[in-house]
Amino acid sequence: MAARPRSTTELLRTVRQIRQYTPEPVADEALQQLLEVARWTGSSRNLQPWHFIVVRDKEQLRRLSRIRTPIEWVATAPAGISIVLDGKANTGEAYDEGRVSERLLIAAHGLGLGGGVAWYGTAEQQAEAKRILGIPEERTARSIVMIGHPVSSTDPRPTRATGGRKALSEVVSYDRLGGAKA
Ligand SMILES: Cc1cc2nc3c(=O)[nH]c(=O)nc-3n(C[C@H](O)[C@H](O)[C@H](O)COP(=O)(O)O)c2cc1C
Repeated sequence: MAARPRSTTELLRTVRQIRQYTPEPVADEALQQLLEVARWTGSSRNLQPWHFIVVRDKEQLRRLSRIRTPIEWVATAPAGISIVLDGKANTGEAYDEGRVSERLLIAAHGLGLGGGVAWYGTAEQQAEAKRILGIPEERTARSIVMIGHPVSSTDPRPTRATGGRKALSEVVSYDRLGGAKA
């Protein structure tokens, strides 16, 4: 099991996208804790426009992983939580989906697990995910958050993006855009 962060800020700062997992299953208790975190996430007007599908079936994960190359690693994770949105308010629901996804990643990290976001892709690829998961066409299903015991946070994909982050000086201003710290 990965070392647990010592403080809340360290927990938040050290959340990484995990794409390599051990075959060890995720304990049901841990999954229940993650689902409680998801359930208590705030949403626009408290509409809670979501439903969460816990996917543990290997064949289901394999089928999802084949939707597009950048998410092939999905087949190696022991579990995923697919986020299904009502499909009624695109912008608000997209924001809510981001909040709940990030909370799942943080909570998994806090439990000594790891998580990774996988996007299904284009409208056609989303439709394929919906067929696999039995989701009606009118609902929105854009992504699944994979959960498992991390092997490494290294991105194994040949198409990997550059790691690390921009310097604070590049992304922060004071009082107005471009303003220096007083
Ligand atoms: C909206 C969104 C969609 C993403 N979709 C994918 C994806 O389909 N496949 C994937 O491997 N990573 C996906 N990621 C993960 C990003 O690549 C990852 O957050 C970024 O590379 C930073 O990773 P790091 O925190 O490990 O440095 C997605 C992240 C976000 C926020």
